Amino acid sequence: MDFNFKTGSPEKQRSACLIIAVSHPQKLSSAGHAVDKASDGFLSQIIRQGDMDGKAGQTLLLHNVSGTLADRILLIGIGKETDLNERSFSRVIASVQSALANSGATDAYSCLSEIAVGSHDIDWNIRHTVMKLGNGEYKFDQMKSIKAEKKKGLKKFTIHLSSRSAMKKAEIAISQGIAITAGMDMARDLGNLPGNVCTPSYIAKQAKQLAKGNKQLKVEVLEEADMRKLKMGSLLSVGMGSREPAKLVSIEYKGGKAKDKPIVLVGKGVTFDTGGISLKGGAGMDEMKYDMCGAASVLGTISAIAELKLAINVVGIVPTTENMPDGLATKPGDIVTSMSGQTIEVLNTDAEGRLILCDALTYAAKFNPLYVIDIATLTGACIVALGKVPSAVLGNDETLINSLIASGKTIEDKLWELPLWDEYQEQLDSNFADIANIGGRDAGTITAACFLSRFTKKYKWAHLDIAGTAWKSGAEKGATGRPVPLLTQFILDHC
Ligand code: BES
Ligand code: MN
Ligand code: ZN
Repeated sequence: MDFNFKTGSPEKQRSACLIIAVSHPQKLSSAGHAVDKASDGFLSQIIRQGDMDGKAGQTLLLHNVSGTLADRILLIGIGKETDLNERSFSRVIASVQSALANSGATDAYSCLSEIAVGSHDIDWNIRHTVMKLGNGEYKFDQMKSIKAEKKKGLKKFTIHLSSRSAMKKAEIAISQGIAITAGMDMARDLGNLPGNVCTPSYIAKQAKQLAKGNKQLKVEVLEEADMRKLKMGSLLSVGMGSREPAKLVSIEYKGGKAKDKPIVLVGKGVTFDTGGISLKGGAGMDEMKYDMCGAASVLGTISAIAELKLAINVVGIVPTTENMPDGLATKPGDIVTSMSGQTIEVLNTDAEGRLILCDALTYAAKFNPLYVIDIATLTGACIVALGKVPSAVLGNDETLINSLIASGKTIEDKLWELPLWDEYQEQLDSNFADIANIGGRDAGTITAACFLSRFTKKYKWAHLDIAGTAWKSGAEKGATGRPVPLLTQFILDHC
Protein backbone atom coordinates (compact mmCIF):
# COMPACT_ATOMS: atom_id res chain seq x y z
CA MET A 1 0.00 0.00 0.00
CA ASP A 2 1.20 3.49 -0.84
CA PHE A 3 0.83 6.24 1.72
CA ASN A 4 0.80 9.95 1.01
CA PHE A 5 -0.78 13.12 2.35
CA LYS A 6 -2.71 16.05 1.00
CA THR A 7 -4.05 19.39 2.15
CA GLY A 8 -7.37 20.86 0.99
CA SER A 9 -11.08 20.49 1.68
CA PRO A 10 -12.15 16.90 2.37
CA GLU A 11 -15.42 17.26 0.42
CA LYS A 12 -13.47 18.21 -2.70
CA GLN A 13 -11.27 15.12 -2.73
CA ARG A 14 -11.69 12.71 -5.60
CA SER A 15 -11.38 9.39 -3.84
CA ALA A 16 -12.93 5.92 -3.73
CA CYS A 17 -13.61 6.40 -0.03
CA LEU A 18 -13.52 9.35 2.29
CA ILE A 19 -13.03 8.37 5.94
CA ILE A 20 -14.74 10.54 8.53
CA ALA A 21 -14.69 10.10 12.32
CA VAL A 22 -17.79 10.33 14.47
CA SER A 23 -17.27 10.51 18.23
CA HIS A 24 -19.72 9.46 20.90
CA PRO A 25 -22.40 10.69 21.30
CA GLN A 26 -23.27 11.58 17.71
CA LYS A 27 -20.57 14.17 17.11
CA LEU A 28 -19.01 14.83 13.72
CA SER A 29 -15.32 15.68 13.43
CA SER A 30 -14.37 18.98 11.79
CA ALA A 31 -13.83 17.32 8.40
CA GLY A 32 -17.23 15.72 9.02
CA HIS A 33 -18.77 19.13 9.47
CA ALA A 34 -17.29 20.34 6.19
CA VAL A 35 -18.71 17.34 4.35
CA ASP A 36 -22.02 17.73 6.14
CA LYS A 37 -22.27 21.31 4.97
CA ALA A 38 -21.37 20.41 1.39
CA SER A 39 -24.02 17.68 1.39
CA ASP A 40 -26.79 19.88 2.82
CA GLY A 41 -26.76 18.19 6.18
CA PHE A 42 -26.88 14.61 4.89
CA LEU A 43 -24.41 13.29 7.48
CA SER A 44 -26.11 14.93 10.44
CA GLN A 45 -29.44 13.58 9.20
CA ILE A 46 -28.05 10.03 9.13
CA ILE A 47 -26.66 10.46 12.60
CA ARG A 48 -29.96 11.83 13.87
CA GLN A 49 -31.75 8.81 12.44
CA GLY A 50 -29.60 6.67 14.75
CA ASP A 51 -27.57 4.70 12.19
CA MET A 52 -24.28 5.89 13.66
CA ASP A 53 -23.89 7.12 17.19
CA GLY A 54 -20.11 7.16 17.32
CA LYS A 55 -19.48 4.09 19.47
CA ALA A 56 -15.88 2.91 19.05
CA GLY A 57 -15.41 0.63 16.06
CA GLN A 58 -18.91 1.17 14.61
CA THR A 59 -18.81 1.72 10.84
CA LEU A 60 -21.28 2.93 8.22
CA LEU A 61 -20.56 3.03 4.50
CA LEU A 62 -22.45 5.63 2.43
CA HIS A 63 -22.44 5.85 -1.36
CA ASN A 64 -22.54 8.80 -3.77
CA VAL A 65 -23.17 11.48 -1.18
CA SER A 66 -24.14 14.61 -3.05
CA GLY A 67 -21.92 17.65 -2.77
CA THR A 68 -18.77 15.50 -2.43
CA LEU A 69 -16.40 14.05 -5.02
CA ALA A 70 -15.83 10.74 -3.24
CA ASP A 71 -17.51 7.49 -4.40
CA ARG A 72 -18.05 6.47 -0.79
CA ILE A 73 -17.93 7.90 2.69
CA LEU A 74 -16.97 5.65 5.57
CA LEU A 75 -18.22 6.93 8.89
CA ILE A 76 -16.18 5.43 11.70
CA GLY A 77 -17.15 5.58 15.36
CA ILE A 78 -14.27 6.48 17.64
CA GLY A 79 -16.06 6.43 21.01
CA LYS A 80 -15.91 9.22 23.56
CA GLU A 81 -13.13 11.66 22.68
CA THR A 82 -11.86 11.68 26.26
CA ASP A 83 -11.63 7.86 26.27
CA LEU A 84 -9.34 7.69 23.25
CA ASN A 85 -5.98 6.10 23.90
CA GLU A 86 -3.28 4.23 21.98
CA ARG A 87 -5.16 0.97 22.15
CA SER A 88 -8.63 2.24 21.23
CA PHE A 89 -7.16 4.20 18.33
CA SER A 90 -5.53 1.01 17.03
CA ARG A 91 -8.90 -0.70 17.18
CA VAL A 92 -10.47 2.15 15.25
CA ILE A 93 -7.87 1.68 12.52
CA ALA A 94 -8.49 -2.07 12.47
CA SER A 95 -12.23 -1.42 11.97
CA VAL A 96 -11.48 0.99 9.14
CA GLN A 97 -9.21 -1.57 7.54
CA SER A 98 -11.80 -4.33 7.63
CA ALA A 99 -14.59 -2.03 6.41
CA LEU A 100 -12.41 -0.93 3.49
CA ALA A 101 -11.42 -4.51 2.71
CA ASN A 102 -15.10 -5.43 2.45
CA SER A 103 -15.82 -2.51 0.12
CA GLY A 104 -14.66 -2.22 -3.46
CA ALA A 105 -12.46 0.78 -2.73
CA THR A 106 -8.86 0.61 -3.93
CA ASP A 107 -7.90 3.98 -2.50
CA ALA A 108 -8.99 6.03 0.48
CA TYR A 109 -8.71 9.56 1.83
CA SER A 110 -8.53 9.58 5.60
CA CYS A 111 -9.47 12.38 7.95
CA LEU A 112 -8.57 10.30 11.02
CA SER A 113 -5.46 12.49 11.25
CA GLU A 114 -7.53 15.16 13.00
CA ILE A 115 -8.34 12.91 15.93
CA ALA A 116 -6.46 13.83 19.10
CA VAL A 117 -5.34 10.70 20.93
CA GLY A 118 -4.38 11.61 24.48
CA SER A 119 -1.55 14.10 24.39
CA HIS A 120 -0.09 12.71 21.16
CA ASP A 121 0.44 15.01 18.21
CA ILE A 122 -0.43 14.49 14.57
CA ASP A 123 2.94 12.83 13.83
CA TRP A 124 2.09 10.10 16.27
CA ASN A 125 -1.39 9.75 14.77
CA ILE A 126 -0.02 9.40 11.24
CA ARG A 127 2.78 7.04 12.16
CA HIS A 128 0.43 4.84 14.17
CA THR A 129 -2.10 4.75 11.34
CA VAL A 130 0.53 3.76 8.77
CA MET A 131 1.99 1.14 11.09
CA LYS A 132 -1.31 -0.48 12.05
CA LEU A 133 -2.57 -0.60 8.46
CA GLY A 134 0.79 -2.03 7.38
CA ASN A 135 0.65 -4.69 10.12
CA GLY A 136 -2.86 -5.64 9.05
CA GLU A 137 -1.66 -6.38 5.53
CA TYR A 138 0.99 -8.86 6.66
CA LYS A 139 0.66 -12.41 5.43
CA PHE A 140 3.04 -15.32 5.49
CA ASP A 141 2.55 -17.71 2.61
CA GLN A 142 6.08 -18.35 1.39
CA MET A 143 5.90 -21.99 2.47
CA LYS A 144 2.56 -22.67 0.73
CA SER A 145 2.62 -24.02 -2.79
CA ILE A 146 -0.91 -22.77 -3.34
CA LYS A 147 -1.07 -19.08 -2.46
CA ALA A 148 -4.27 -17.42 -1.33
CA GLU A 149 -5.93 -15.63 -4.19
CA LYS A 150 -4.84 -11.97 -4.37
CA LYS A 151 -7.66 -9.64 -3.41
CA LYS A 152 -8.10 -6.27 -5.12
CA GLY A 153 -7.69 -4.44 -1.86
CA LEU A 154 -6.49 -1.01 -0.94
CA LYS A 155 -3.59 0.34 -3.03
CA LYS A 156 -3.36 3.96 -1.93
CA PHE A 157 -4.04 5.64 1.38
CA THR A 158 -4.05 9.42 1.50
CA ILE A 159 -3.87 11.25 4.81
CA HIS A 160 -5.66 14.55 5.18
CA LEU A 161 -3.69 17.50 6.54
CA SER A 162 -5.58 20.59 7.57
CA SER A 163 -2.54 22.85 7.16
CA ARG A 164 0.55 22.94 4.97
CA SER A 165 2.74 23.52 8.01
CA ALA A 166 2.26 19.87 9.01
CA MET A 167 3.61 18.55 5.71
CA LYS A 168 7.25 18.11 6.65
CA LYS A 169 6.36 16.26 9.85
CA ALA A 170 3.77 14.14 8.07
CA GLU A 171 6.36 12.98 5.60
CA ILE A 172 8.69 11.88 8.40
CA ALA A 173 5.85 10.20 10.28
CA ILE A 174 4.86 8.21 7.19
CA SER A 175 8.43 7.08 6.57
CA GLN A 176 8.75 6.02 10.20
CA GLY A 177 5.51 4.05 10.03
CA ILE A 178 6.68 2.33 6.85
CA ALA A 179 10.16 1.55 8.24
CA ILE A 180 8.80 0.11 11.48
CA THR A 181 6.30 -2.02 9.56
CA ALA A 182 9.07 -3.34 7.30
CA GLY A 183 11.21 -4.12 10.34
CA MET A 184 8.30 -5.97 11.93
CA ASP A 185 7.64 -7.85 8.69
CA MET A 186 11.24 -8.98 8.64
CA ALA A 187 11.05 -10.14 12.26
CA ARG A 188 7.72 -11.90 11.62
CA ASP A 189 9.04 -13.70 8.55
CA LEU A 190 12.12 -14.94 10.40
CA GLY A 191 9.94 -16.08 13.30
CA ASN A 192 7.34 -17.83 11.16
CA LEU A 193 9.88 -19.71 9.06
CA PRO A 194 10.26 -23.31 10.27
CA GLY A 195 13.35 -24.47 12.12
CA ASN A 196 14.57 -26.46 9.13
CA VAL A 197 14.76 -23.27 7.06
CA CYS A 198 15.56 -20.61 9.64
CA THR A 199 18.79 -22.12 11.00
CA PRO A 200 21.70 -20.21 12.58
CA SER A 201 23.33 -20.08 9.11
CA TYR A 202 20.12 -18.66 7.65
CA ILE A 203 20.05 -15.91 10.28
CA ALA A 204 23.68 -15.04 9.51
CA LYS A 205 22.83 -14.91 5.82
CA GLN A 206 19.87 -12.61 6.45
CA ALA A 207 22.06 -10.24 8.46
CA LYS A 208 24.55 -10.09 5.58
CA GLN A 209 21.72 -9.54 3.15
CA LEU A 210 20.45 -6.64 5.24
CA ALA A 211 23.86 -4.97 5.21
CA LYS A 212 24.49 -5.51 1.52
CA GLY A 213 24.95 -2.25 -0.35
CA ASN A 214 24.52 -0.15 2.80
CA LYS A 215 27.74 1.60 3.80
CA GLN A 216 26.42 2.39 7.27
CA LEU A 217 26.03 -1.31 8.10
CA LYS A 218 28.77 -3.80 8.80
CA VAL A 219 28.28 -7.49 9.62
CA GLU A 220 30.64 -9.90 11.27
CA VAL A 221 29.91 -13.60 11.75
CA LEU A 222 31.88 -15.56 14.32
CA GLU A 223 32.05 -19.31 13.66
CA GLU A 224 32.38 -21.97 16.36
CA ALA A 225 36.18 -21.95 15.99
CA ASP A 226 36.22 -18.17 16.59
CA MET A 227 34.02 -18.56 19.63
CA ARG A 228 36.30 -21.27 20.97
CA LYS A 229 39.21 -18.84 20.74
CA LEU A 230 37.18 -16.28 22.69
CA LYS A 231 36.42 -18.99 25.30
CA MET A 232 32.65 -18.77 24.87
CA GLY A 233 32.21 -22.14 26.56
CA SER A 234 28.67 -21.45 27.69
CA LEU A 235 27.33 -20.44 24.28
CA LEU A 236 29.10 -23.35 22.61
CA SER A 237 27.73 -25.86 25.13
CA VAL A 238 24.17 -25.27 23.89
CA GLY A 239 25.03 -26.18 20.30
CA MET A 240 26.84 -29.39 21.22
CA GLY A 241 23.88 -31.60 20.35
CA SER A 242 23.16 -29.97 17.00
CA ARG A 243 24.37 -30.70 13.46
CA GLU A 244 23.80 -27.04 12.58
CA PRO A 245 26.83 -24.93 13.52
CA ALA A 246 26.24 -22.13 16.02
CA LYS A 247 27.12 -18.54 15.04
CA LEU A 248 27.57 -15.21 16.70
CA VAL A 249 26.42 -12.47 14.38
CA SER A 250 27.14 -8.82 15.02
CA ILE A 251 25.80 -6.02 12.90
CA GLU A 252 26.98 -2.47 13.41
CA TYR A 253 24.97 0.54 12.30
CA LYS A 254 27.03 3.72 12.19
CA GLY A 255 24.73 6.69 11.77
CA GLY A 256 26.21 8.79 14.60
CA LYS A 257 29.61 10.32 15.19
CA ALA A 258 32.56 7.95 15.44
CA LYS A 259 32.97 8.69 19.15
CA ASP A 260 29.28 8.26 20.07
CA LYS A 261 28.82 5.21 22.27
CA PRO A 262 26.42 2.73 20.68
CA ILE A 263 23.20 1.26 21.98
CA VAL A 264 23.81 -2.49 21.88
CA LEU A 265 20.92 -4.89 21.27
CA VAL A 266 21.49 -8.56 22.04
CA GLY A 267 18.87 -11.01 20.75
CA LYS A 268 18.39 -14.68 21.67
CA GLY A 269 18.58 -16.70 18.48
CA VAL A 270 17.71 -20.30 19.38
CA THR A 271 16.34 -21.42 16.04
CA PHE A 272 14.74 -24.47 17.64
CA ASP A 273 14.52 -25.31 21.32
CA THR A 274 13.78 -28.98 21.98
CA GLY A 275 14.98 -28.50 25.56
CA GLY A 276 18.06 -30.63 24.80
CA ILE A 277 18.60 -33.65 27.09
CA SER A 278 16.05 -32.04 29.48
CA LEU A 279 13.66 -32.64 26.61
CA LYS A 280 10.42 -30.67 26.40
CA GLY A 281 7.03 -32.37 26.13
CA GLY A 282 5.61 -32.91 22.67
CA ALA A 283 2.53 -30.70 22.96
CA GLY A 284 3.06 -27.43 21.17
CA MET A 285 6.77 -28.05 20.73
CA ASP A 286 6.55 -26.72 17.16
CA GLU A 287 6.22 -23.25 18.68
CA MET A 288 9.82 -23.47 19.83
CA LYS A 289 10.75 -22.44 16.29
CA TYR A 290 9.90 -18.98 17.66
CA ASP A 291 12.75 -19.16 20.16
CA MET A 292 14.80 -16.89 17.89
CA CYS A 293 12.33 -14.01 17.99
CA GLY A 294 14.69 -11.91 20.11
CA ALA A 295 17.30 -12.19 17.36
CA ALA A 296 14.67 -11.43 14.74
CA SER A 297 13.60 -8.28 16.60
CA VAL A 298 17.21 -7.08 16.69
CA LEU A 299 17.56 -7.49 12.92
CA GLY A 300 14.14 -5.93 12.31
CA THR A 301 15.02 -2.92 14.45
CA ILE A 302 18.38 -2.45 12.72
CA SER A 303 16.54 -2.62 9.40
CA ALA A 304 14.12 0.12 10.54
CA ILE A 305 16.76 2.52 11.84
CA ALA A 306 19.01 1.98 8.82
CA GLU A 307 16.05 2.70 6.55
CA LEU A 308 15.43 5.93 8.46
CA LYS A 309 19.15 6.81 8.44
CA LEU A 310 18.99 7.82 12.11
CA ALA A 311 21.94 9.77 13.48
CA ILE A 312 22.93 7.25 16.13
CA ASN A 313 25.22 4.25 16.56
CA VAL A 314 23.59 0.90 17.22
CA VAL A 315 25.07 -2.59 17.39
CA GLY A 316 23.05 -5.79 17.11
CA ILE A 317 24.51 -8.98 18.54
CA VAL A 318 22.85 -12.29 17.82
CA PRO A 319 24.06 -15.53 19.38
CA THR A 320 22.32 -18.23 17.41
CA THR A 321 22.15 -22.01 17.76
CA GLU A 322 19.80 -24.96 17.96
CA ASN A 323 19.15 -26.73 21.26
CA MET A 324 19.03 -30.46 20.45
CA PRO A 325 19.47 -33.79 22.31
CA ASP A 326 22.29 -35.97 20.98
CA GLY A 327 25.16 -38.17 22.09
CA LEU A 328 27.39 -35.13 22.36
CA ALA A 329 24.80 -32.82 23.87
CA THR A 330 25.40 -31.09 27.19
CA LYS A 331 23.93 -33.12 30.06
CA PRO A 332 22.31 -31.98 33.32
CA GLY A 333 25.07 -31.57 35.85
CA ASP A 334 27.70 -30.65 33.27
CA ILE A 335 29.79 -27.63 34.20
CA VAL A 336 30.84 -25.13 31.54
CA THR A 337 33.11 -22.10 31.67
CA SER A 338 31.73 -18.86 30.27
CA MET A 339 33.74 -16.21 28.46
CA SER A 340 33.65 -14.15 31.67
CA GLY A 341 35.52 -16.94 33.48
CA GLN A 342 32.54 -17.79 35.69
CA THR A 343 31.69 -21.48 35.78
CA ILE A 344 28.09 -22.59 35.30
CA GLU A 345 26.44 -25.82 36.43
CA VAL A 346 23.88 -26.72 33.76
CA LEU A 347 21.18 -28.24 35.94
CA ASN A 348 18.61 -28.07 33.15
CA THR A 349 19.58 -27.99 29.48
CA ASP A 350 16.25 -26.35 28.69
CA ALA A 351 17.43 -23.15 30.38
CA GLU A 352 19.65 -22.59 27.34
CA GLY A 353 18.74 -19.00 26.44
CA ARG A 354 20.69 -17.55 29.35
CA LEU A 355 23.64 -19.77 28.46
CA ILE A 356 24.01 -18.24 25.02
CA LEU A 357 23.13 -14.72 26.17
CA CYS A 358 25.71 -14.61 28.95
CA ASP A 359 28.62 -14.98 26.53
CA ALA A 360 27.06 -12.54 24.07
CA LEU A 361 26.63 -10.05 26.95
CA THR A 362 30.27 -10.44 27.94
CA TYR A 363 31.23 -9.93 24.29
CA ALA A 364 29.02 -6.79 24.13
CA ALA A 365 31.40 -4.90 26.44
CA LYS A 366 33.93 -4.60 23.63
CA PHE A 367 31.67 -2.11 21.86
CA ASN A 368 31.95 0.33 24.79
CA PRO A 369 28.15 0.55 24.99
CA LEU A 370 25.99 3.42 26.17
CA TYR A 371 23.31 0.85 26.99
CA VAL A 372 22.92 -2.86 26.44
CA ILE A 373 19.43 -4.25 25.96
CA ASP A 374 18.90 -7.97 25.56
CA ILE A 375 15.73 -9.39 24.08
CA ALA A 376 14.79 -13.01 24.61
CA THR A 377 11.96 -15.55 24.64
CA LEU A 378 13.52 -16.61 27.89
CA THR A 379 10.98 -18.07 30.31
CA GLY A 380 7.59 -19.73 30.27
CA ALA A 381 7.25 -18.22 33.75
CA CYS A 382 6.95 -14.80 32.13
CA ILE A 383 3.68 -15.88 30.52
CA VAL A 384 2.43 -17.19 33.87
CA ALA A 385 3.28 -13.88 35.53
CA LEU A 386 2.18 -11.35 32.92
CA GLY A 387 0.26 -13.21 30.23
CA LYS A 388 0.60 -12.07 26.65
CA VAL A 389 0.06 -8.35 27.07
CA PRO A 390 3.35 -6.77 28.12
CA SER A 391 6.91 -7.99 27.79
CA ALA A 392 8.78 -8.10 31.10
CA VAL A 393 11.63 -5.67 31.73
CA LEU A 394 14.33 -5.98 34.38
CA GLY A 395 17.74 -4.40 34.62
CA ASN A 396 20.40 -2.53 36.56
CA ASP A 397 19.59 1.04 35.53
CA GLU A 398 16.32 2.67 36.53
CA THR A 399 16.62 5.51 33.99
CA LEU A 400 17.05 3.08 31.13
CA ILE A 401 14.16 0.93 32.32
CA ASN A 402 11.84 3.90 32.70
CA SER A 403 12.63 5.26 29.28
CA LEU A 404 12.02 1.83 27.73
CA ILE A 405 8.66 1.66 29.52
CA ALA A 406 7.76 5.14 28.24
CA SER A 407 8.72 4.30 24.64
CA GLY A 408 6.67 1.11 24.87
CA LYS A 409 3.60 3.02 26.01
CA THR A 410 3.96 5.55 23.18
CA ILE A 411 4.02 2.94 20.46
CA GLU A 412 1.66 0.49 22.16
CA ASP A 413 4.24 -2.25 22.63
CA LYS A 414 4.07 -2.40 26.38
CA LEU A 415 6.52 -3.40 29.10
CA TRP A 416 6.04 -4.18 32.77
CA GLU A 417 8.89 -4.14 35.24
CA LEU A 418 9.65 -7.05 37.56
CA PRO A 419 11.99 -6.59 40.52
CA LEU A 420 15.60 -7.63 40.16
CA TRP A 421 16.29 -7.68 43.89
CA ASP A 422 19.38 -9.23 45.46
CA GLU A 423 17.21 -11.51 47.59
CA TYR A 424 16.53 -13.64 44.49
CA GLN A 425 20.20 -14.14 43.62
CA GLU A 426 20.76 -16.95 46.13
CA GLN A 427 18.33 -19.17 44.21
CA LEU A 428 21.18 -19.58 41.71
CA ASP A 429 23.70 -20.96 44.22
CA SER A 430 25.45 -24.11 43.05
CA ASN A 431 27.31 -26.70 45.14
CA PHE A 432 29.78 -27.37 42.37
CA ALA A 433 30.20 -24.28 40.18
CA ASP A 434 30.08 -20.48 40.56
CA ILE A 435 26.46 -20.38 39.54
CA ALA A 436 23.61 -22.72 38.54
CA ASN A 437 21.64 -22.11 35.34
CA ILE A 438 18.24 -22.49 37.02
CA GLY A 439 16.78 -21.05 40.20
CA GLY A 440 13.90 -23.37 41.03
CA ARG A 441 10.18 -22.96 40.48
CA ASP A 442 9.65 -19.59 42.11
CA ALA A 443 10.04 -16.32 40.20
CA GLY A 444 11.48 -17.97 37.09
CA THR A 445 11.61 -14.78 35.02
CA ILE A 446 13.41 -12.93 37.79
CA THR A 447 15.98 -15.66 38.47
CA ALA A 448 16.70 -15.86 34.72
CA ALA A 449 17.42 -12.11 34.78
CA CYS A 450 19.49 -12.59 37.96
CA PHE A 451 21.60 -15.06 36.01
CA LEU A 452 22.16 -12.51 33.22
CA SER A 453 22.92 -9.76 35.76
CA ARG A 454 26.10 -11.65 36.73
CA PHE A 455 27.44 -10.86 33.25
CA THR A 456 26.33 -7.23 32.85
CA LYS A 457 28.04 -5.43 35.71
CA LYS A 458 30.23 -3.26 33.45
CA TYR A 459 27.47 -1.28 31.77
CA LYS A 460 23.88 -0.05 31.96
CA TRP A 461 21.67 -2.95 31.02
CA ALA A 462 18.05 -3.96 30.60
CA HIS A 463 16.59 -7.36 29.80
CA LEU A 464 13.33 -7.86 27.94
CA ASP A 465 11.57 -11.22 28.31
CA ILE A 466 9.32 -11.50 25.26
CA ALA A 467 8.15 -15.10 25.80
CA GLY A 468 4.51 -13.95 25.95
CA THR A 469 4.56 -11.26 23.29
CA ALA A 470 6.72 -12.38 20.35
CA TRP A 471 4.14 -14.70 18.87
CA LYS A 472 0.52 -15.77 19.13
CA SER A 473 -0.70 -19.36 19.55
CA GLY A 474 -3.94 -21.01 18.48
CA ALA A 475 -5.93 -20.12 15.40
CA GLU A 476 -3.95 -16.89 14.95
CA LYS A 477 -0.59 -18.65 15.36
CA GLY A 478 2.14 -16.39 14.08
CA ALA A 479 4.93 -14.00 14.98
CA THR A 480 3.83 -10.52 16.10
CA GLY A 481 6.95 -8.52 15.23
CA ARG A 482 7.19 -7.30 18.81
CA PRO A 483 9.25 -5.66 20.23
CA VAL A 484 10.50 -4.02 17.01
CA PRO A 485 8.13 -1.04 17.56
CA LEU A 486 9.31 -0.55 21.13
CA LEU A 487 13.01 -0.79 20.27
CA THR A 488 12.71 1.53 17.28
CA GLN A 489 10.71 4.02 19.32
CA PHE A 490 13.31 3.87 22.09
CA ILE A 491 16.07 4.61 19.59
CA LEU A 492 14.02 7.40 17.98
CA ASP A 493 13.48 8.88 21.44
CA HIS A 494 17.26 8.92 21.84
CA CYS A 495 18.06 10.72 18.60
N1 BES B 1 12.43 -20.85 25.14
C1 BES B 1 12.05 -21.28 26.43
C2 BES B 1 11.08 -20.31 27.11
C3 BES B 1 9.68 -20.35 26.60
C4 BES B 1 8.82 -21.37 26.94
C5 BES B 1 9.20 -19.30 25.84
C6 BES B 1 7.52 -21.37 26.49
C7 BES B 1 7.91 -19.30 25.41
C8 BES B 1 7.07 -20.32 25.71
C9 BES B 1 13.28 -21.39 27.33
O1 BES B 1 14.44 -21.79 26.69
C10 BES B 1 12.97 -22.40 28.35
O2 BES B 1 12.79 -23.54 28.00
N2 BES B 1 12.90 -21.99 29.61
C11 BES B 1 12.59 -22.85 30.68
C12 BES B 1 13.45 -22.47 31.84
C13 BES B 1 13.40 -23.45 32.98
C14 BES B 1 14.02 -24.78 32.57
C15 BES B 1 14.12 -22.86 34.15
C16 BES B 1 11.11 -22.69 31.01
O3 BES B 1 10.61 -21.56 30.97
O4 BES B 1 10.47 -23.70 31.27
MN1 MN C 1 14.64 -23.90 26.66
ZN1 ZN D 1 14.60 -21.40 24.72
